[in-house]
Amino acid sequence: MNFINTIEKKRDGEKLSRAEIRDFITRYVSGEIPDYQVSALLMAIYLRGCDEEETFELTMAMAESGDMVDLSGIPGIKVDKHSTGGVGDKVTIIAAPIVAACGVPVAKMSGRGLGFTGGTLDKLESIPGFVVGLKEEEFITQVKEIGCAVIGQTKSVAPADKLLYALRDVTATVGCVPLIASSIMSKKIASGSNAIVMEVTYGTGAFMKDEESAKALARTMNDIGKRANLKMEAVITNMNEPLGYAVGNSLEIIEAIEALKGNMAPDVMEVIAEVTADMIIAGEKAKDSETAVNMAEEALRSGKALEVLRKMIEKQHGDPRVIDDYDLFPKARVKKEVKAAEDGYLRVTSCAGIGECVKILGGGRITKEQEIDLSVGLIMKVKDREKVNKGDVICEIYASDEKDAANAERQYLDSVKISEKEGHWHPLIYTLND
Ligand code: URA
Repeated sequence: MNFINTIEKKRDGEKLSRAEIRDFITRYVSGEIPDYQVSALLMAIYLRGCDEEETFELTMAMAESGDMVDLSGIPGIKVDKHSTGGVGDKVTIIAAPIVAACGVPVAKMSGRGLGFTGGTLDKLESIPGFVVGLKEEEFITQVKEIGCAVIGQTKSVAPADKLLYALRDVTATVGCVPLIASSIMSKKIASGSNAIVMEVTYGTGAFMKDEESAKALARTMNDIGKRANLKMEAVITNMNEPLGYAVGNSLEIIEAIEALKGNMAPDVMEVIAEVTADMIIAGEKAKDSETAVNMAEEALRSGKALEVLRKMIEKQHGDPRVIDDYDLFPKARVKKEVKAAEDGYLRVTSCAGIGECVKILGGGRITKEQEIDLSVGLIMKVKDREKVNKGDVICEIYASDEKDAANAERQYLDSVKISEKEGHWHPLIYTLND
């Protein structure tokens, strides 16, 4: 097949066939098609788009470019969840143990943080000793034994996506629904679960800046999943401010442990209720939302969910004593309080800006290979639309030195404002039907 013809077809707005898409992915992964030609095709896709069939074929070709994880040895409906990313997003660390405690197996492959967004793997690695690189057999055995495991994606899962994502990053072709949807779904499909609950974020702390584009992405991923015979559920969440109070790796794990002990920030509780209920229903352990929410609440109240997290930490070679002793987490040397300069209502003007504070502190990545400081971050003491008085502490910054703390404080103050008015309320969660 002549790849120039494929580029020409997409450039002229024509539909690519399954054979053309398969040929593109197979020969790109094998190194036969050079980056410059693939860049041209990516830009043509970016400008011309793909229809549902093309997007599905692209996803499957990418999923099948590497190993397809076989979870059939684990009894029951395996339910995965995925978030398109955000700031302070500790949902997986809270939801996975709750859902597992309700009898739904969760075999989850997660990612690392990049840019202003955090990653579940980095957060888990702030638990001393915690290993995210389990072998496939160990991963499966752990899910069979305790109902839940969270590991890093192996190199053999969807290698086409790794190549394409790196190329999109340097060719201004990341922000395109068919490319984002096929990238995410290829990894999810190759990871082997039977059902996926998608949390698609929108706002100043997300890829998708508005609700409508988040819905378009959610619909596309839903369609791909359904064509691949997966059960799909999607929720749209507002990421115009960080989720919960803590932003930063170990600080978020502590917040997640507190949540599993029953001390949950109201916004975290809202998202957890929705996501866990969807996962429990997808796993066929409840028929309706009310029953599922009751089951999740019981898993929390009884301490069963916290026990699952303890076992998961133990199995993945981490120190489970962290659950009762937060001093075992890496500790930042400097704590700085940020104070309100006037009376009014706090407004978060840039959620990504707050994520950037963690990067300034050394707790977020600029390049994929970068080592990060797991101890640093911040705790919001006042959330969006809450009233403050001059001199109130609005945020605590945890830094490795005074200079970083001062830079992060400046960044924080640039990301919020104190307004005379409370501002409009926006729902935290939408479904596709809203
Ligand atoms: N996350 C992914 O895995 N892929 C994208 O293209 C965007 C976000």
